Amino acid sequence: MVNPVSGFYKKTKEQKIKWLSANYLADDSQSITILKKYWNSDEALQKLHDDFIENTISNYYLPLGVAPNFLINDNLYTIPMVIEESSVVAAASNAAKFWLNKGGFKAQVLSTIKNGQVHFNFFGNVTDLETYFAEIKPTLISSIDAIQKNMKKRGGGLLDIEFINITDTLEGYFQLHCTFETGDAMGANFINSCLEVIASTFKNEAQSFQPFKISEAYPEIVMSILSNYVPDCLVRAEVSCPVSKLNVEGMDGAIFANKIVRAVAIAKATPRRAVTHNKGIMNGIDAVVLATGNDFRAVEAGVHAYASKDGNYTSLTHAKVEKGIFKFWIELPLAIGTVGGLTNLHPLVKFAFSLLQKPNAKQLMEIIAVTGLAQNFAALKSLVTVGIQKGHMKMHLMNILNGLNASEIEKTEAVEYFKKHPVSHSAVVNFVTNKRT
Ligand code: MEV
Repeated sequence: MVNPVSGFYKKTKEQKIKWLSANYLADDSQSITILKKYWNSDEALQKLHDDFIENTISNYYLPLGVAPNFLINDNLYTIPMVIEESSVVAAASNAAKFWLNKGGFKAQVLSTIKNGQVHFNFFGNVTDLETYFAEIKPTLISSIDAIQKNMKKRGGGLLDIEFINITDTLEGYFQLHCTFETGDAMGANFINSCLEVIASTFKNEAQSFQPFKISEAYPEIVMSILSNYVPDCLVRAEVSCPVSKLNVEGMDGAIFANKIVRAVAIAKATPRRAVTHNKGIMNGIDAVVLATGNDFRAVEAGVHAYASKDGNYTSLTHAKVEKGIFKFWIELPLAIGTVGGLTNLHPLVKFAFSLLQKPNAKQLMEIIAVTGLAQNFAALKSLVTVGIQKGHMKMHLMNILNGLNASEIEKTEAVEYFKKHPVSHSAVVNFVTNKRT
């Protein structure tokens, strides 16, 4: 039985590892060796990574890949992607190439409004509360002058504070719903700082509001936090071309286009398919969000909530054929930034921004939406033609070979052999075993 540890965070990295080793890894010195193998020999670089979070003991690598040939709004991009799933970058590259000579992708930011709420209780007279809010609103706004100063210079800041009565759903529950523009920043810290000051002003000023004094019922702050549901921070990306240009895998273009439209309709019809359909989209989106140092949990949460905004979880992409033109598009919320957070700190994030030609937040929203659309197109293209496993297993081949500790010669021979034979785990094991006997 391991004893609890106190002040763990105060220990040095070596001491932390020693503690882990003594308490959990006594029989596994290999793990400790591996932990240290993943330390960067450049001490300053390692220190930078150590300081991102608490209790860092090592680095956890994920591959950083690039998907070239993305024509977006007539600019050619190579998109950085961080992901562990073997087929994702290949699929994105494939879709980029496919649309390259068909006009590429068009993308457009539709809105950029973020939001957050001060959640509070009030069990007194609601009319008093409404009067108080109307009176206090200018003071609430001016209470964040100092915090907003720089954001305002960059064209952002608080847009409005709305009073919302949610007592129909939860007794005594109200919100100050605050909307913001945050420019090129994702803005989480800015929004949360504003909300906390607004909340304390709202609470403090209430002490001298006469009707509250008389009734002895005051608003009680529960919490103040931004919302990751950002349905007014939207981006749209699309591709289109005549169906005659869509001949794929020997399939007639019109038939292929109709199959894609049907596949999207199926994702719209049932959450079981929609979740997987959208998961494929998020393969692309998360990979770019991670590569650019953004918060993929925030994006995931917001996107999936948006996918169910009408009460049913449904497809994020849409497709139609009209007058012989195939159109395929996505619309989704993306609260991301190109300044602040890890963006100025992580050397590989800096690389990602250089590679993307230093996009602003809106351009990055467009790039990310396009990657999601491309990923969905690539998945559906395989699914409605040859099936997903052909490409997946081809990409997974190297993982299987590495799992079998294959030599470089074995790998080269296996790659050659499996160009003409279906890849499965057992087929690869047999291949390697035969080579070794
Ligand atoms: C796998 O990571 C993603 C797919 O399942 C997406 C889809 O089914 O559309 C291939």
